[in-house]
Amino acid sequence: MYRPGRNPLVFFTNLARTYGDIVSYRMGGEQLIFVNDPKCIRDILVTHNRNFMKGRGLQRSKRLLGEGLLTSEDPTHLRQRRLMQPAFHRERIAAYGQTMVAYADRLRREWRDGATLDVSQEMMRLTLSIAGKTLFDLDVESQAADVGEALTAVMETFWTTMLPFADVLERLPVPRLRRARAARAKLDAIIYGLIAERRAASRDASTASSGDRGDLLSMLLLAQDEDDGGVMTDQQVRDEAMTIFLAGHETTANALTWAWYLVSEAPQVEARLHEEVDRVLNGRLPGVADIGALSYVEKVVTESMRLYPPAWIVGRRALQEYRIGDYVVPARSILVMSPYVLQRDARYFPNPDRFDPDRWTREFRAALPPFAYFPFGGGPRRCIGESFAWMELVLVVATIAQQWRLRLVPDHPVEPQPLVTLRTKHGMRMVVTSRK
Ligand code: HEM
Repeated sequence: MYRPGRNPLVFFTNLARTYGDIVSYRMGGEQLIFVNDPKCIRDILVTHNRNFMKGRGLQRSKRLLGEGLLTSEDPTHLRQRRLMQPAFHRERIAAYGQTMVAYADRLRREWRDGATLDVSQEMMRLTLSIAGKTLFDLDVESQAADVGEALTAVMETFWTTMLPFADVLERLPVPRLRRARAARAKLDAIIYGLIAERRAASRDASTASSGDRGDLLSMLLLAQDEDDGGVMTDQQVRDEAMTIFLAGHETTANALTWAWYLVSEAPQVEARLHEEVDRVLNGRLPGVADIGALSYVEKVVTESMRLYPPAWIVGRRALQEYRIGDYVVPARSILVMSPYVLQRDARYFPNPDRFDPDRWTREFRAALPPFAYFPFGGGPRRCIGESFAWMELVLVVATIAQQWRLRLVPDHPVEPQPLVTLRTKHGMRMVVTSRK
């Protein structure tokens, strides 16, 4: 058996296909249990979630990035999640739809007919701008290029905090850490500056609500605990803002990149996509109100995230002994669950390697066992940005597909790179052709 470090996607897939739904494995001095059964996954993430912690990645990365929602444990996590939930309510984030479309429109105007682009970089640039505007009310591209640069450097290490065994998957070279530390200092200065500015504005104004600029940062600053009336400290706001920024934009960029790749390889899907976008929008830009009618776009995105889930793996550390099926898992073991592996399992998805948005009929969804499809995790640690992400994915795909056809450059190697998110190893070089 080869080492998981070489190609963890193949490794975990083979582990499940060869040894069954629950497989124990020692790796890097840790006891790992790979779990590939929807019911057991639901038990771990939802029913028995209190038996587990998320566990930490490298402590040194954590020092770099603080204690945000993604990495904190209870009771901090519970309190922070309660404080932040309102900022992600559907009505609140609906206001961001316009920003998403405006920025996607700006990007599509920059493209030139026949140009070859690295679509993964283009999508990263786009989701970064959207995150900058919705979170901080900043235009990262024109107003604050240094925010973008600093974030990119911090991102390189951020993801290692997300998994309990991340250090086994990805060992960080020291220069990268040093660069990230410098970038963090720069970002801190920017974010603390923004926080001070907002706090001063709301003190000066006659009503507290005038500190609300409509962005997520305002929500974080205004959030108040219902029970004790407490608010977040500057440092908490900073940690949460950074977490949302980092957790939100790379995942979404990956999902978009894989969607463009899959659509470009499936001309019939592409034709249906174009037909729907043209019919529903009739030449105008999409808005949040159109999302319900863009049902094929939604299926395309759902099916893309089945084959290439951006968060391809989720881990939990057992706090005490835990019984799972016929196994007794010792305390401190790490349970590993992979949307990538399970979502390509023929027991739940017939013809699993086929990109087939049409499989997502109402009946198919209703018959699918819970947690056979789980790109956003589940339970109290389920992705807080899920609605935000769906909205962004559907609106961006619709806006770009309205004007452009994307084709993979012949012979461009397409290889998933499973770091903590599922990136493309060689980028995604595509030729864009105008549809108009
Ligand atoms: C396609 C896009 C996205 C995917 C696939 C995704 C996936 C996930 C998954 C699987 C988790 C749970 C991890 C675990 O249980 O260990 C998670 C958590 C989280 N996500 Fe997302 N995410 C996406 C977009 C976003 C966006 C847009 C935001 C913010 C605007 C966001 C913010 C977060 C945060 C803060 C958490 C931690 C929640 C907690 O522990 O309470 N994500 N995400």
